[in-house]
Amino acid sequence: MNQLIITGASSGIGHAIAARFLAAGWRVLNLSRRPCPEPGVENLSVDLESPASLDALAETLPERIAVEGRICLVHNASIMRADRIDALPDDDLRAVLELNLLSPNRLNQLILPHLGAGSSVLYIGSTLSEKAVPGAASYVIVKHALVGMMRATCQDLAGRGIHTCLICPGFTDTPQVRALIDGHPETLAAITAMNAFGRLITPEEIASAVAFAAESPMLNGSVVHANLGQRER
Ligand SMILES: NC(=O)c1ccc[n+]([C@@H]2O[C@H](COP(=O)([O-])OP(=O)(O)OC[C@H]3O[C@@H](n4cnc5c(N)ncnc54)[C@H](OP(=O)(O)O)[C@@H]3O)[C@@H](O)[C@H]2O)c1
Repeated sequence: MNQLIITGASSGIGHAIAARFLAAGWRVLNLSRRPCPEPGVENLSVDLESPASLDALAETLPERIAVEGRICLVHNASIMRADRIDALPDDDLRAVLELNLLSPNRLNQLILPHLGAGSSVLYIGSTLSEKAVPGAASYVIVKHALVGMMRATCQDLAGRGIHTCLICPGFTDTPQVRALIDGHPETLAAITAMNAFGRLITPEEIASAVAFAAESPMLNGSVVHANLGQRER
C-alpha cells in the first residue's frame, strides 16, 4: 500500500492533505505534537522544533515506514512569527530554522533511504518563498530556503525515480489565518483583495494540488504557486 508521511497534519492544510490521501486509499502517518483529527490516520507525536524529540522519533519511525508501495513525504509543519530583520535575535531565528529547515533535513535523512521509484518529496512553501513582505523576516528566510532544499533534492536524487516540488499556497482558510481575521473583517478584506478571486483558498484546494504533485513526476524541481493569482499593485 502507498504511504503518505506528513508533518503537521493535526491542523489546517496538513489535515486536509491527510484526509485527501486517506480517501484515495493511502496509508497516512502524521508527525506533529497533536494527533490528526482524521480517523484512520496514524500518528507519531514529535516536537519538530526539538532535536531531542527528533532523536526519540528516530527510534520509532523506521518501523512505521511502509516497505512496499510508493511513499509521498510532505514537509508541511511550520509556524509564522511576526518579526523584523532589524529585531531578530539569534535564538528566535534558530527556533524557526529548527522547525522549518533542520527538521525536514532530519526527516529526509531518516526516510529517503526507504523511498523507491514513484515516490515523492513535497515541500510546502508560501507565496513568501519568492517574495518578501515587511514584518515576517524569519518566515521569509525559511520559505526562501525551502526553494533551495527542494532544488537540491531534485538534483541529488536524480536517477532514483523520485520527484520533488515546492507547493506555495497563498492565504488559505486555516486556524492560523482564522486567528488573524476572526473579529477583524478589515483584515479579511485586505487579505482577500490580494488575489484575483477575492477569497481565501480552501485547505482542500491545496490538498488537491499536493495530490496532483504526488502523481506528477514532470513537476520535478518545480516551484508551484497555488494562490489564486497574486494581484500586483
Ligand atoms: N494558511 C495559509 O494561509 C498559508 C499560506 C502559505 C503557506 N502556508 C503553509 O502551509 C503549511 C500549513 O499551514 P497551516 O495554515 O495549515 O498551519 P496550521 O493550521 O497552523 O498548522 C500548522 C501545523 O504545523 C504543526 N507544527 C507547528 N509547530 C510544530 C512543532 N514544533 N512540532 C511539530 N509540528 C508542528 C502543527 O502541529 P502541532 O501544533 O500539533 O504540533 C500543525 O499541524 C505551513 O508550511 C505554512 O507555512 C500556509
